[in-house]
Amino acid sequence: MQKPAITQVPIDPILANRWSGRAYDASKSVSKEQIIALLEAARWAPSCFGDQPWRFVVWDKQTDNKSWQKAFDCLAPANQAWVKDTSVLMLVCADTLFNHNQKPNRWGQYDTGAAAENICLQASSMGLMAHQMGGFDSDKAREAFAIPEQYIPMAMLCVGYAADINTVTGDALDRETAARARRPLSELFFDGSWGNPIV
Ligand SMILES: Cc1cc2nc3c(=O)[nH]c(=O)nc-3n(C[C@H](O)[C@H](O)[C@H](O)COP(=O)(O)O)c2cc1C
Repeated sequence: MQKPAITQVPIDPILANRWSGRAYDASKSVSKEQIIALLEAARWAPSCFGDQPWRFVVWDKQTDNKSWQKAFDCLAPANQAWVKDTSVLMLVCADTLFNHNQKPNRWGQYDTGAAAENICLQASSMGLMAHQMGGFDSDKAREAFAIPEQYIPMAMLCVGYAADINTVTGDALDRETAARARRPLSELFFDGSWGNPIV
């Protein structure tokens, strides 16, 4: 299912077509080559000092179902309800320290979000769907996968092939059918001074 953004002015279709759906086709899996392409997209995200503070742990249901299940168990129940049909899970972590001098990296989380978004856009361009999730138990994930203290588990994300909307039920279906909405440009973007709408 496609759910392109209704934009105030035209934008690149790759951006408009990316969306966080919840209906996944359990019968289709993402290949290893596709997974590597997604990670390559993340690898080329910009970062402060070119530090590349992101780290991703990846679980492929097809090749390591046991570990995929262990990662799945870290998700909030509301997310598990629909993530069950996805092919790939990832844990997105941000380094708290700069690689080059081990001093605190104030931009680590900012850069890591950019890398995660690159994955989502790359997935969309490949006919896949990615969905980021803050709804997971970060302490559980840290312990289950021995994430070092220096790194913060920021989000999990899942990737798979989109399915027909009728494959989801309950709360997830309501969210699936809701219109995609954004605040107007005038509310978020300022012209020259704070609060002065750009349009
Ligand atoms: C950091 C982050 C955390 C999110 N957490 C969840 C989540 O736990 N469960 C969920 O269903 N969607 C989650 N989302 C998806 C957002 O709800 C979604 O991106 C937002 O509603 C905009 O919709 P769109 O991505 O389709 O444009 C999250 C997105 C981000 C970026």
